[in-house]
Amino acid sequence: MTASTLTLTLDPKALARELSGLLLIDGKMVPAASGATFPVVNPATGEVVAQAAAADVGDVNRAVEAAAKAQKDWAKLLGRERGRLVQEGGRLLIEHQEELAKLVALETGKALRTESRVEASVFADVFMFFGGLGSELKGESVPFKTDSITFTQREPIGVVGAIIPWNVPLLLMALKIAPAMVAGNSVVVKSAEEAPLAVLRAIQILNQVLPPGVLNMLSGDGPSTGAPLVTHPKVKKVTFTGSVETGKIIYRAAAEKLIPVTLELGGKSPMIVMADADIDRAVGGAITGMRFTRQGQSCTAASRIFVHAQVIDEFVTKLKAKVDAMVMGDPLDEATDIGTIISVEQFDKVRRYIAIGEATPGATALACSAMPKEASLAKGLFIRPVIFTGLTSDSPICREEIFGPVTAVMAFTDYEDALAQANDSDYGLAATIWTRDLKTALDATQRLEAGLVQVNQNLVVQSNMSYGGIKQSGLGKEASLESMLEHFTHKKTIILNMS
Ligand code: NAI
Ligand code: MG
Repeated sequence: MTASTLTLTLDPKALARELSGLLLIDGKMVPAASGATFPVVNPATGEVVAQAAAADVGDVNRAVEAAAKAQKDWAKLLGRERGRLVQEGGRLLIEHQEELAKLVALETGKALRTESRVEASVFADVFMFFGGLGSELKGESVPFKTDSITFTQREPIGVVGAIIPWNVPLLLMALKIAPAMVAGNSVVVKSAEEAPLAVLRAIQILNQVLPPGVLNMLSGDGPSTGAPLVTHPKVKKVTFTGSVETGKIIYRAAAEKLIPVTLELGGKSPMIVMADADIDRAVGGAITGMRFTRQGQSCTAASRIFVHAQVIDEFVTKLKAKVDAMVMGDPLDEATDIGTIISVEQFDKVRRYIAIGEATPGATALACSAMPKEASLAKGLFIRPVIFTGLTSDSPICREEIFGPVTAVMAFTDYEDALAQANDSDYGLAATIWTRDLKTALDATQRLEAGLVQVNQNLVVQSNMSYGGIKQSGLGKEASLESMLEHFTHKKTIILNMS
């Protein structure tokens, strides 16, 4: 077993400086050819913590060429051997877990204890999971003629472009790169402008065990780095998580090349709380589902909560009390439950939605928790979580993805009406129902329009469960053996005629 040769750096600011100005191409940490950089900001203080390298089309070409070259030998290894290397990388990530957690907290403003540490741990586990599937790249034998042997085999696609967002940068990257590599592809990752550092560090760690060129990393913005990656002729598959708008741009570019894409896009996930539900449990589920600890910056955020009129007052009172008890503060402080919004752009967007809600006749905005008082955090992008009551389903707050700590709790009296409102959305990522009645629960699981439906819980997805949305929430699934086979391999049919 290899031990990491990289020095553990538990001071995230020192590590941020060390990673400044670098990309990872062909196993080496290198600057962008132009030398261009852009600032990475700690959203809790407004301080610039690093200058990330801004890759342009020339760097994209270098990375893709390196990936294309490395992929040939990588594909020749037995899947089991690739899996072993990916798991070895996973073990190194576990050694560096705390370091990665602190770096994510520094660049994204996500609280260390409730979010960043959890992400770093689940992140490493994804490599252990997919690494174990290397010998599951099986084909089928196909009944055909008695004097022929007909079978299918799974082959890698080639170079995969993986474009990732900033909200859960490590984990969302892992769900793409781990299965892609185990299946025999090489990868060029394009990190999000707001959160390039932990992703670069993780890829540097993994490159201690991977052959050079198998896993490369570019930072930069969408048009200059992401777009040329998608259009590069040697990129044969694109996997993307982010906004619907960018997802459609990528889909169009991929259509020109006729290459497959996986798109994990937004959500507006409903939660239905029936009158017979265990209210305390449902309130707990709203806290987890809404990802209040992540400032609601989640594509599955339970941002539309339909509660039976008989229990809505109890639900709202208890929900508010729980969110009030959460501590907003310095993301790196162990006492903090809730950190900051990622960027000024997102901060302004969330506040615009809150203002729309506040101006809606009949609506009430319940602001929860309390702003941190430290002078050092005065410029931090903190927003008090808001629970709206009295809105209707046609409000922009209930129709559009806010990506902030804002949820709407709405009363219903008729189950069919709640179900119709829950399904009346452009999105279809996740949904939950809370009830003690088995018949209602089963009925809702069949009729809720979403890629993931849960009853009496609101947990995050597991590595072995397919995850992905319908409608505007995306195309294709991530996680699970099936998604690795479906999205990162081609099936070849082979007929041996022996007559
Ligand atoms: P975005 O979709 O623009 O960015 C995601 C990634 O795509 C980033 O790496 C970005 O650089 C890249 N990108 C942007 N334009 C590109 C292009 N033309 N070609 C290739 N790559 C490109 O999302 P953004 O601007 O960060 O956030 C806007 C909204 O998107 C958020 O408010 C939220 O509603 C939603 N969002 C949803 C996420 C999810 O988990 N489904 C994650 C992040 C954002
Ligand atoms: Mg954008």
